[in-house]
Amino acid sequence: MTGKFIVFDGLDGTGKTTFIKMLSEYLESKGFKVSVTAEPTKGPSGVLIREILGGAKKASQEELAALFLADRIAHNSELDELINEGNIILCDRYYYSSFAYQADSDTMGWIMDMNLNCPKIRVPDLALLFDSPPELCLERINKGRMGQPLEIFENLKSLNAIREKFALIEKILNESGRNENIVRIDSAPKLEVVFEEILKAVNSLLGI
Ligand code: TMP
Repeated sequence: MTGKFIVFDGLDGTGKTTFIKMLSEYLESKGFKVSVTAEPTKGPSGVLIREILGGAKKASQEELAALFLADRIAHNSELDELINEGNIILCDRYYYSSFAYQADSDTMGWIMDMNLNCPKIRVPDLALLFDSPPELCLERINKGRMGQPLEIFENLKSLNAIREKFALIEKILNESGRNENIVRIDSAPKLEVVFEEILKAVNSLLGI
């Protein structure tokens, strides 16, 4: 069987990494080959992006959007191979993040165009968009970092703005007639409750 490409996206601190681990273990127990991947990647553009996100280098949001695009194109060559080998790919973040984090009302158009119309960038088979109140996200981020410095978007003001943008993007994409399969996941409830929601969407995609 050819693989599937499942994206986990949404605000920082919504538990994506934990749920990727849980889903990976679940799918492996069902006999699926699973591959976990993430953006930014560990490739050359991804390394530069991390330096910018950590505040060591400066760049505008437009420059960041272009760097994320380059990183995503490189990432897609790896994704193609993994899909052909029959893997279920669980990807931590994708183009939805570029729309939510880098775009504003002036730049949303071209940032969406260059990602959605790039023939090297595949459309996910399923995109789970995680949502939680930003106060809860920040609490989880602080717990996870154990004193390490926060990245540039990890503050309440940014998280509130980004949350609104994710909701807007979901609406734009759903109304665009594109072949996007987006499911919003409320990740405020208990872990098991959220995981049940994830399983509903994934089992329906995989027909299990
Ligand atoms: P994370 O590894 O903790 O998810 O951090 C990645 C950060 O990169 C997160 O703050 C969101 C940001 N990001 C963007 O700004 N644009 C993008 O296109 C992607 C993939 C991530």
